[in-house]
Amino acid sequence: MKIILLGMPGSGKGTQSEILKQKFSIANISTGAILRQASREQGKQAELIRSFIDKGQLVPDKIIIQMLVNRIHQKDCSKGYILDGFPRNLAQGESLDNTGIKVDFVIYLEISEQAIISRMAGRRIHPASGRSYHLQHNPPQKDGLDDISGEPLIQRDDDTPEVIKKRVASFNKETRPLLEFYKTKKVKFVEVDASKELNDVSCSILGQIN
Ligand code: AP5
Ligand code: MG
Repeated sequence: MKIILLGMPGSGKGTQSEILKQKFSIANISTGAILRQASREQGKQAELIRSFIDKGQLVPDKIIIQMLVNRIHQKDCSKGYILDGFPRNLAQGESLDNTGIKVDFVIYLEISEQAIISRMAGRRIHPASGRSYHLQHNPPQKDGLDDISGEPLIQRDDDTPEVIKKRVASFNKETRPLLEFYKTKKVKFVEVDASKELNDVSCSILGQIN
């Protein structure tokens, strides 16, 4: 099972991909989480990655495509995976196509720009795994701590109002064209209303891909 999740910042890609991972026992690949991890290392590439993330811009294709190819060849991807945050523009979509990998579903989480504001403000993440919580809508079992590792949760550096605006602009300009791209491909395209409650969104996805 190979699934692509598309959606605006805060639409719930990370949240839903964690649920799909549990449900289908497949790997959950967040390119955002991979890049944040890489940006914490030392050296020129880390600095470069950090500079793009901090500006809410896409990291250059050359860097991310190579990272993704390395990731999907790891052992835990043998039964399939969920791509959360890849592809992010037409060039990435085409490069995935050119690998010959057959994607089963493209799921688009549809939400308005207004609706994502409160979601982003209340978000807390576990940096090592990328697991995402919300102070009201999806709180951790223990305040401020990740449910699985017990490690502290943090706010993302790029969750400031200015950077969120740029990430939304980047979605509209670079990622949105992928919706039409996939509608013309031999892949099941599923659109769900991501403004609903978390469980309703999951039910709607599972109802359409089972
Ligand atoms: P990335 O980490 O992918 O960020 P994003 O696309 O901006 O999306 P988010 O992670 O902010 O939101 P999400 O949809 O995962 O929502 P979540 O589930 O957390 O990318 C970050 C940066 O990395 C990019 O700007 C770029 O620089 C770089 N990058 C990444 N991929 C790249 C690529 N392929 N190429 C180049 N550059 C790349 O949910 C949000 C909040 O809402 C949470 O608090 C959650 O608990 C809550 N929530 C979720 N669902 C619901 C619900 N139904 N109701 C109420 N609350 C909910
Ligand atoms: Mg995410």
